[in-house]
Amino acid sequence: MINNLHKWLLLRLVLLWFVLSLVIGGVVHYLGNVRLDNHIINMAKTETATYTNAIIAYLKAPSEKALADLNVRIKIEIERDNLIAVEFYDAASNKITEAVEKGAREIEEKLPKHGSEFADKNGIVCNKIIMGNDTYLRVFVPIFNDGGSKIGYLEGIYHAPGDIIAQIKQQTLWSLILVVLVVFATSMALYPLIIRLNRTLNDYSHNLTLTNIGMLRVLGSAIAKRDSDTNVHNYRVTLYSVRIGEIMELSHPAMQGLIKGAFLHDLGKIAIGDAILHKPGKLTDEEFKIMESHVRHGEDIIYGYDWLKDARDVVCCHHEKFDGSGYPAGLANEKIPLNARIFSVADVFDALTSKRPYKEPFSFDVAVEILRESLGSHFDPDVARIFLDSAAVLHAEICSSNETLLHGKLEACIRKYF
Ligand SMILES: [Fe+2]
Repeated sequence: MINNLHKWLLLRLVLLWFVLSLVIGGVVHYLGNVRLDNHIINMAKTETATYTNAIIAYLKAPSEKALADLNVRIKIEIERDNLIAVEFYDAASNKITEAVEKGAREIEEKLPKHGSEFADKNGIVCNKIIMGNDTYLRVFVPIFNDGGSKIGYLEGIYHAPGDIIAQIKQQTLWSLILVVLVVFATSMALYPLIIRLNRTLNDYSHNLTLTNIGMLRVLGSAIAKRDSDTNVHNYRVTLYSVRIGEIMELSHPAMQGLIKGAFLHDLGKIAIGDAILHKPGKLTDEEFKIMESHVRHGEDIIYGYDWLKDARDVVCCHHEKFDGSGYPAGLANEKIPLNARIFSVADVFDALTSKRPYKEPFSFDVAVEILRESLGSHFDPDVARIFLDSAAVLHAEICSSNETLLHGKLEACIRKYF
């Protein structure tokens, strides 16, 4: 059970680690790219500012000489910075001049072309272009005169420096590795916490079960005090029932219901008056009707208590008979719950082989014979045959044990099934 929990928890924590790493890593990667783009854009904007000032100076007083000076200036500048090409346009999108870095003409021509869709933009526009391992930025910078009117624009091709891109990418990679490690460490830190929490919950649950079992013992003793002043009948019928259930390979929950029901089967006798309960002679029909009502009283007492819900089958149906002649509902065959059919065999066998105020115990052989004669009438023949096959062994084990031994055997059953 615990091993399964460890495996179950580890699998889920690894899955959590994977999903969180994917989600948070994705966000870190995205933010890293945004940071890289912003960095490149800012560098491109800074570098185009030099050209913008030069073209503004020219446009304010255009002349051939000013144009020649501009050409000289931009040709020097283009070799020094990261821009590989610049073009200047007037307000009507006519090219004024351009400069291309040495050896960069081929690259510039390979870059995707565009129309004049940026000519009417009033803000700086940057388009990122990836070509091979290189990142380029096409930058459009509108140029305004002192009056705020647009007098032209600049188009530049900026080649992002590879070392800066590599540096930012490396920072992003380290952030990703850190995220994965932190999520892993957090997931692993949760592991002992969850195991400990589960252990605490198990302890609480076990204590609750022990409390309920204690209540079961108290109620069982109360019935015994009221009925026969001894627990042995309750112990014996519970042990016989458990042994039959084990031979029939009942499920764990079914065994729990069988044990609870067997222990509390006559709980309703608490409500039967002494004159009838302890009457030494035979009961009249009217008295017998009252005695029968112990089944209904038992049902009423356990009603509404969830932990005893599975005891209901035995408490309510332990006097039903396989042929439908029992009470209180006159159920027949498989309509009688299996636990009640099992208990019925155990209860009658123990009654036959026990001493009662009104009778001496029958011998084992006589009791077996009576049971055999009642197959299909009182008892489920399949269940009764299973019991009869092992009756000699069970009788020797259970009937010869004193109260202390029986108590020990019952404790072992409780430890096994609760
Ligand atoms: Fe009963």
